[in-house]
Parts: sequence; C-alpha cells; structure tokens
Amino acid sequence: MDTLRKDSGAAASFLDKGSIPKLGKVIRQPDLARTYELLARDGMQAFYAGPLARRLVEGVRKLGGIWTGKDLADYRAIERPPIVGHYRDATIISASPPASGGVALVDALNILSEFDLEHLDSTTRKHAIIEAMRRVHRDRAVYMGDPDSVKMPIERLISPYYADGQRASIRLDRATPSSALPGVETNAGGSQTTHFSILDADGNRVAATITVNLGFGTGLVIPGTGIFLNNEMDDFSTKPGQPNAFQLIGGDANAIAPGKRMLSSMTPTIVAKDGKAVLVTGSPGSRTIINTVLCILVNVIDFNMDIRSAIDAPRLHHSWFPDEARFESTADHSQAMEQLRKMGHIIVGTRQGDAHSIWVDSKTARYFGAADHRIDGKAAGY
Ligand code: DON
Repeated sequence: MDTLRKDSGAAASFLDKGSIPKLGKVIRQPDLARTYELLARDGMQAFYAGPLARRLVEGVRKLGGIWTGKDLADYRAIERPPIVGHYRDATIISASPPASGGVALVDALNILSEFDLEHLDSTTRKHAIIEAMRRVHRDRAVYMGDPDSVKMPIERLISPYYADGQRASIRLDRATPSSALPGVETNAGGSQTTHFSILDADGNRVAATITVNLGFGTGLVIPGTGIFLNNEMDDFSTKPGQPNAFQLIGGDANAIAPGKRMLSSMTPTIVAKDGKAVLVTGSPGSRTIINTVLCILVNVIDFNMDIRSAIDAPRLHHSWFPDEARFESTADHSQAMEQLRKMGHIIVGTRQGDAHSIWVDSKTARYFGAADHRIDGKAAGY
C-alpha cells in the first residue's frame, strides 16, 4: 500500500482516500476508461503514436523515467512460433523466447523422459525432478534472452540428445551442487502475474500469462491515462550473477540493451494428444513458474491425475541458484525430506504458484476447469 500511496495517480486508481478499499468497494478508473475508448475507436496504434502516446511519454518523464516518443513508436507486439516438444505420448506447446518457459519446460521433460516417474520411489522421483529443474534453470540463466538480440541454441536446448547428456550428469544417490554446473563466471564480461486458461466448445484454446512483475509493478499510474506502469525491467539481468527481485540470475544473454526485451519465466502451455488439446495451463510465480507447470504436466501425464488432483498436489522447486529445493510442506513430502537432506539437498518450505487450468477427460471428452486455491481465482464454464 505504501508503494501506491506514494503516487497520486496510483492512489487515485487503487486506494480509497489513501487506504485499502473495503471488500465490495467498486474501483472506478475513469482515465483508463477514456484510454480504452480511444483504443477501441482508433485501434492499438493509438497507444504507440498520437496524443495518448505523447501523454504517456510526458507522464513517464515527469515521474522520472527516460521513455522517448521513438521508443513507443518503434515498439511492436511480435507473434512468435511456439516451442513444441514431446513427452511420452503428449505434444507440449508452450511459450517461446523472450519467455524462457517453453524451452526450459521441454528440456526438463526431455531429461525426465527416461525416468519411470510413476514407479520410482518418492525420494528418487523428487530428486530426479529437482535435478532436472536445476539444470534447465542453469541454461536459462546462461543462454537465454531476447531472440532479436541474442543468438540462443534453442534447437540444442530442446533436443532429446542434449537432455541425454544432462541426464547422464545426474547421480541418483546425491544432489549435484549448483556450483558444480559451469556457467556463472564464464559469462562475465510476487507479485503480480495472472494466468488464464480458456477452451471453447469448438476446441479453440488459449493459455495466457500476463505480468506487471512485482506487486503493482512500479506503483505508478501515468496521469490522465489510467495506464499503470509495470516494472518488467527487473526481469533483465543487471550484471552476470546478480540476482533480481525474485533471486533469478542471468548473464549477458539477458543484459539490458536499447530496444531489447527482457527474459520472462512465463510458461503458458497447451498439451495435446492426437492433435486435440488435453490440458491448458500456466501460472504466476516468477522463478517458480516453469517448475509449477512442470509439476502439473508430470502429475497429468505420468500419474494420470485428474486436473483437480494435479493442481492440488504439493509442488517443488529448484532454480539452480539459490541452491535450495523448495517444497510445499505436506505429509508426503516430509517423509522424503530427511533422505533428500542426506543426499545433499538444502530443503526449504514454500507455497508455489496459482495455476488455473483446463483439462479434457479423454474417456468422456468432458472439459474440467480447476482454479488453483493457492492465491485466488475461479473456474467458469458456459
Ligand atoms: O515474466 C516474468 O517471468 C515475471 N515478470 C513474472 C513475475 C511473477 O510471476 C510475479 N508474480 N507472482
């Protein structure tokens, strides 16, 4: 709330006389309504050039920012082909860079594909998943960034042969220290994200994750426009090895440069079998996003869970650095904790993600929506 209080535009938009609005209070944003009316009338181009664009640039500069009219005029939303992979008998369709989720997810699944997760004992299964998470987050930090600015070995990273090599480096009896994986030095030189899963009666599907990064982004609303500023700049790596607000590290590939887009962890994902969607999912949670989606896919594909169970099942997380495995504490997980500690894992408790999902029951062809109860949200069907 302090963040919102500091900015008169944000306070007017989201607070009630400087305080958190009471439940049921209707929040009115007339400036934003006028902005939407203008965009509805003149199209999205009105955001990037013309009176609204001028107002945005002036507003940001008054607030201390460095936008220019050219920055806005030059910006384009780019449609990119998705990352596609295969896991067991499913096709995985997910976000491509500058979101890192699809590449990391497909690589993690490739690594796990030679493990019989369903029949492994619980400790070994968790260990294998953590080690896959550790390795894909290492690659995320070392290689990944804006595809228009950096060359990335995407084909290699999502290749099953590459995953074979990564799998070969996993010891089943002990944790790999993150510092033993090469990467950090060689490159020298919250929470406000929302996921929607949508599926219509004709089978059209949308997995959409949107983010302003930290809770209420910068906390700034551009006067007269109702437009709220995210702080996505935090998704860039400020210098190799320096963690961002979510403790994610990165290298040169994700360094700040003019015109470059920051690396995201967003992983909106569609799983298809025989060309038909069987699962639409995704989550907020910054550095945990990729792993939340990975856990759900393993639950559905390896364990044949229905979507309610797959969403409710306790999650785990590892992102290379910090070198710790995070678990949602449950009886099942606590049994394995001691053994995992003995294997060298540092174990921390957590609550992870908010993965609103849709699943199609292959037996009945019925659609099921499952809201994740960890934060908020609901499933609706028509
Ligand atoms: O794009 C990203 O990876 C981050 N901006 C996401 C931040 C996030 O999920 C925070 N919310 N829970």
